[in-house]
Amino acid sequence: MPRILILGGTGEARALAAALTDMPGIDLVSSLAGRVANPILPPGEVRSGGFGGADGLTRWIREQAIDAIVDATHPFAAQITTNAVLAADRCGTPLVVLRRPEWQAPVNAQWNLVSDTAAAAELLPSVGTRAFLTIGRQGVDAFAGMATMWFLVRAIDPPEGKMPPRAELTLARGPFTVAGETSLMRQRRIDVLVTKNSGGEQTAAKLEAAERLDIPVVVIERPPLPAGVSTVDDVSGAAAWVAAIT
Ligand SMILES: NC(=O)c1ccc[n+]([C@@H]2O[C@H](COP(=O)([O-])OP(=O)(O)OC[C@H]3O[C@@H](n4cnc5c(N)ncnc54)[C@H](OP(=O)(O)O)[C@@H]3O)[C@@H](O)[C@H]2O)c1
Repeated sequence: MPRILILGGTGEARALAAALTDMPGIDLVSSLAGRVANPILPPGEVRSGGFGGADGLTRWIREQAIDAIVDATHPFAAQITTNAVLAADRCGTPLVVLRRPEWQAPVNAQWNLVSDTAAAAELLPSVGTRAFLTIGRQGVDAFAGMATMWFLVRAIDPPEGKMPPRAELTLARGPFTVAGETSLMRQRRIDVLVTKNSGGEQTAAKLEAAERLDIPVVVIERPPLPAGVSTVDDVSGAAAWVAAIT
């Protein structure tokens, strides 16, 4: 029975695990980084915690006799994807990256594209004064030195590292609604939204809310994928890839 590794931590990874669990003749294991306090677990076998870099992952793939890998991690989890591509190459194990499509700027949106959180922090004071920071718990410390701006920081778990001095923290997990996001931004008098271009339905409502409120958005662009890697853009594409190679 082919043993399939799903690198997870996303809704798509859980949906794929559910789809493959229903597929006969597949031995499945999902892997989580193990950093979130109360992760939503996928169905089936789950292991948790880092592998110890590309070398550790290479050893683990060999020990576990993994036959194929679906990297269904978040588009901004660049390190694990780099490690997985390298380890799969060393082991001769087929790998595909499941990468949801990027969000596209609505016609009337005011999007400011930046390459990373440091560039977002540099640009921010020229765009607004009260920011809705929705980049998750990682990278918030890039904004920690900004004493003149006010932040509403939203994440599932409390951010790692320092918070900006003038900030309110709200802990919440999507999905969010346009009505809810619009009301939150109005209440907090938000005049700029900061987001990664994560893509997906769960957290897209803030973009429509910002457009309705005529609020500019600072959009952090995705890190590039390793060269030459195979990709699919949804769960059914990943399930079909697994079915085709097993
Ligand atoms: N970055 C985001 O914005 C974001 C958002 C939502 C969910 N997530 C999920 O959260 C996890 C961590 O994200 P990150 O941005 O910190 O990742 P990252 O920077 O790419 O990875 C850092 C290290 O965490 C470990 N790791 C990451 N994903 C793993 C997995 N699925 N299974 C086992 N180990 C994993 C690996 O440790 P070793 O080197 O020791 O193997 C990796 O080198 C990912 O699984 C991702 O899908 C991330």
